Amino acid sequence: MEVIRVEGGHPVTGTVTVEGAKNSALKLMAATILAPGVTTLTNVPNIADVHVMGKVLKELGAIVEVVDEHTLSIDTSTVDSWETPYSLVTRMRASTAVLGPLLARFGKAIVAMPGGCNIGARSIDMHILGLEALGVEFDVDHGDIYATAPNGLHGATVNLEFASVGATENLVMASVHAKGVTIIDNAAREPEIQDLANMLNEMGADIRGAGTPVIEIHGVGELHPVTHAVTGDRIEAGTFAAIGALVGQPVTIKGFEPDHLGLVLRKFEQMGITVRRGQRCVTVSRDQPLRAVDIQTLPFPGFPTDMQAQTMCLLAVAEGTSIVTENVFENRFMFASELQRMGSDIAIQGHHAVVRGVRSLSGAEVRSPDLRGGAALVMAGLIADGTTTVLDIYHIDRGYERFVEKLRSLGAHVTRVEVPDIEVLDDEL
Ligand code: EPZ
Repeated sequence: MEVIRVEGGHPVTGTVTVEGAKNSALKLMAATILAPGVTTLTNVPNIADVHVMGKVLKELGAIVEVVDEHTLSIDTSTVDSWETPYSLVTRMRASTAVLGPLLARFGKAIVAMPGGCNIGARSIDMHILGLEALGVEFDVDHGDIYATAPNGLHGATVNLEFASVGATENLVMASVHAKGVTIIDNAAREPEIQDLANMLNEMGADIRGAGTPVIEIHGVGELHPVTHAVTGDRIEAGTFAAIGALVGQPVTIKGFEPDHLGLVLRKFEQMGITVRRGQRCVTVSRDQPLRAVDIQTLPFPGFPTDMQAQTMCLLAVAEGTSIVTENVFENRFMFASELQRMGSDIAIQGHHAVVRGVRSLSGAEVRSPDLRGGAALVMAGLIADGTTTVLDIYHIDRGYERFVEKLRSLGAHVTRVEVPDIEVLDDEL
């Protein structure tokens, strides 16, 4: 099995360019179902989740061609199935993003009910409630969701109980051909939603208000394929910004919109971090001890839950005590439990974490709980005394392209190492 080994205490400085956003690319790929023909996506991250979504599209009959490492050509004129297999949905919850496009194109879809994952139940009740308002009927049988729109889809007003990213995206995609106007109230406002709406409008859709709490979709006829560049990954950028803030020397991150990290960068400044914003780039440095701040995760433009672990790593070695409140997922503090093995002082109380800053961390063998927690454990290893070994790094590969190579280009002493499973077992015994 592969692990990531980090040797702490070495300078980390320089420039890194982030890839296209994982949480946009996956939905843009699903949206190609709406435009029969060849859509070309550029600035696509070369990550495991994109490969899985490619498999989902192929299962549906699409032809997916890797033009180069970051360009996909997807021909969906050959899509002739509307059923996604459990094996793929269970590997990646985002596969449910094909539900809306399949309903819009075929008036039916069979999608495996996504199981829970490490960070929470991840149900899709809001997707289902919203789609029912558009005329979709649902049956759940043997773990599969059978969705049909016997009379086609019609516009409606949907009030989302929570600004769910996935529900907003499925409703936008499902309603592009719906008869009349669909209004999504309390819609998610993430930049990835705007990227999706931009591409759909380039395809001929009529979507207004993406990025605001009220999105209006006017039903139109057939959409046509386009070429579209995926927006920069604000979470990958935020991860490297946190790394620069942690180690202290200047780190410049290119390839994304700093406005997409607004509150994160402002919180970093409150922590004593120097942030210089440029055109599609940011330079982060620090010449004073980190200060404690309170964080609460919320839908965009609130503090992103996907930056919670990376920020908690900073707070773990800040001066003072911080309260981190996780409002988006019900179980996203596993990273904190692993960080305890490295000497942090964090008490979990429900959806609050009380983080008492410590002077230093010590290297240890730790296990990635999820994609962002895994990246944050590697990050902690950069400043820990001694060596940190991070296991279950497949989580990291789901959403970070060449994470180790990028860290090494900044001077970090980080390597991917193949270790025999038994060695890990010994440690566990
Ligand atoms: C997207 O997940 C992202 N994933 C997540 O990123 C991100 O953390 C999340 O949005 C919030 O920003 C992708 O885009 C592939 P939600 P999604 O629907 O769409 C509950 C990462 O690390 N909920 O906004 O699943 C849900 O369980 C990943 O890149 C319902 O209860 O997020 C969660 O607790 C992790 N019922 C909360 O709402 C529903 O019908 C937010 O979910 C839908 C959601």
